[in-house]
Amino acid sequence: MYELLRPLLFALDAETAHGLTLYASDVAQRSGLSGLIAKPPAPLPVRVFDIDFPNPVGLAAGLDKNGEHLDGLAALGFGFVEIGTVTPRPQLGNDKPRMFRLPNHEAVINRLGFNNGGIDALVRHVEKAAFRGVLGINIGKNKDTPNERAIDDYLLCLERAYPLATYITVNISSPNTQGLRDLQEEETLRRFIGTLREAQERLAGQHGKRKPMLLKIAPDLTDTELDAIADVLLASGIDGVICTNTTIDRDAVVGDPNAHETGGLSGRPLFEKSTTVLRGMATRLGGKLPIVGVGGILDGDTAAEKIEAGASLVQVYSGLVYRGPKLIAEAVTEIRRRGVIA
Ligand code: FNR
Repeated sequence: MYELLRPLLFALDAETAHGLTLYASDVAQRSGLSGLIAKPPAPLPVRVFDIDFPNPVGLAAGLDKNGEHLDGLAALGFGFVEIGTVTPRPQLGNDKPRMFRLPNHEAVINRLGFNNGGIDALVRHVEKAAFRGVLGINIGKNKDTPNERAIDDYLLCLERAYPLATYITVNISSPNTQGLRDLQEEETLRRFIGTLREAQERLAGQHGKRKPMLLKIAPDLTDTELDAIADVLLASGIDGVICTNTTIDRDAVVGDPNAHETGGLSGRPLFEKSTTVLRGMATRLGGKLPIVGVGGILDGDTAAEKIEAGASLVQVYSGLVYRGPKLIAEAVTEIRRRGVIA
């Protein structure tokens, strides 16, 4: 089905096609036709962070920023869905066009800049949804909040998202909010995570349930920076890490007509880099913290390789643009076939 639609979607501007696809997934779900778009995967249950996942293949943050399409997306067979990045107040994001396809590389460049309807709107959408699966809520800061006060934005989003989320992702790795990735610096990160961890424990007491908190990191970190982040993660008591967000590196797409576009590159050219960071993190963390592997999963093989590199779960985004939702079942099938998940 997606093969038929893809040329039509690719004739549209990338962001328009993206909106149309989300709309189509909602319509398909409401009319009971999601099975026609993609055959849902057979179950491959996994337990990570004390959470039961029906399968280890999830939707990465950024596709459903406002949690408006949970039911349509869940019907495609994801083992979990991460929504956001959400910020305290609504914001428009950068000027359009701000999303570009690089079809020869099966890649995307985006500089959306956390366009979203704000945390209150997200909460309303999630409360309205029928979805009862594993829900990640990915939180960030508003563009006009300076880094010195970034923690207040994250605390506000954490507090509001906590009761609804199965897990929370702290996103400090988007390249499209100026200065955001500076929060990955060792001492800044130590204080930042420390404060969020205290809030997490307080909220766990308040709501009578502990919800895991994960940190999402960039692929553009040096070995020394990764050493420092791993130390902070291990000392902090945080529950896990997501490797990785998009890259600002263009080496893998040199010569492409869209290579010069500012923003984060995702899709196939990100695979090597994000998997190297994942493997390095797995070694540094020595199995003490679970890792979610994301970046460049385009088929069953790339999904299984993330698990082999040390991930307990994987997420996809750009692969859906190029392969459609059948990618989900392909990834689950290959992970099962290789027996890389117990
Ligand atoms: C993203 N990604 C992203 N990540 C995040 O933490 N918050 C966000 O709001 C977004 N927004 C976003 C928009 C678009 C258009 C893309 C393509 C990506 C990053 C995404 O979750 C993932 O980490 C990367 O895209 C790498 O995975 P893929 O796309 O190579 O499978």
